[in-house]
Amino acid sequence: MELTVKDVSKSYGQNKALSGLTLTFTPGIYALLGPNGSGKTTLMNIITDNLKYDSGSVTYEGVNISDMGRNFLQLLGYMPQYPGIYPQFTAEEYLFYIAALKGVKSPAAQIDDILREVELDDVRRKRTSTFSGGMKQRLALAQAVIGDPKILVLDEPTAGLDPKQRIAMRNYISRISMQKIVLIATHVVSDVEYIAKTAIFLKKGVVIDSGSPSSLAEKSRGQVWTVKTDADRVAEFQNRYKVINISGEGSEVWMRLLSETCPCDGAEAAVPTLEDEYIRVFDR
Ligand SMILES: Nc1ncnc2c1ncn2[C@@H]1O[C@H](COP(=O)(O)OP(=O)(O)OP(=O)(O)O)[C@@H](O)[C@H]1O
Ligand SMILES: [Mg+2]
Repeated sequence: MELTVKDVSKSYGQNKALSGLTLTFTPGIYALLGPNGSGKTTLMNIITDNLKYDSGSVTYEGVNISDMGRNFLQLLGYMPQYPGIYPQFTAEEYLFYIAALKGVKSPAAQIDDILREVELDDVRRKRTSTFSGGMKQRLALAQAVIGDPKILVLDEPTAGLDPKQRIAMRNYISRISMQKIVLIATHVVSDVEYIAKTAIFLKKGVVIDSGSPSSLAEKSRGQVWTVKTDADRVAEFQNRYKVINISGEGSEVWMRLLSETCPCDGAEAAVPTLEDEYIRVFDR
């Protein structure tokens, strides 16, 4: 199973959203990471055949996805960044409706399972217009996974979720990802650090780095430090270094910061994370 994006470019007027992007996806979770406007949603809209691009190709098993028509759509589950959910439907009606559109036969048992997984089974007969943002977000994931799609494209699936739901969603995605190509765009690096096989750093429509989360994190080794200092010296450190995190009580403060050399006496080298590397690369 292989989905290939080859030399794809896309502009909106003068604005180049993607520049000659080449990526190959095989089963496993891919994390698409990059700041606002880097082209994540544009790429997802192209991969799901919702947006025309200017040049290049997108193929599945060697066949252009636009030529596959319905055959491609049946392989696909897409959770858009801003999903439109019909307010007059109940959660359950909405999922039956999506199942019908996807041509899923006898979806009832599957819908029961999915509603339980996304913790909406107790509100399944409530209208979606009464749902909170996080509930709509979970319903949007539910509609994407109906029909057990081979390709799952999730645009910021954990946006607006509380920490408990975020962990539940992460575990659920990880569990259903066997034998699927899963592409997740997110700003929350820690959501994908332990579940993605590959992280892709996208900057201004160009892939600037990609690899396993641990191999990318390793690139920050020796440049991440923890420093214990007085609260009144925080500004001084912030002026000189990229400070990733500050915590502490009263006058004592711990900071996690980036520095190519040891920043001060007593600083300790920290084990780098994917988030450290993300900040190192994107906040230059
Ligand atoms: N419909 C559109 N019309 C014009 N420009 C667009 C359109 N959609 C996206 N763009 C531009 O394309 C670029 C990439 O946008 P895109 O939405 O793909 O970024 P993103 O990485 O998903 O950002 P975010 O993290 O904010 O969701 C941006 O410069 C954006 O302004
Ligand atoms: Mg986006």
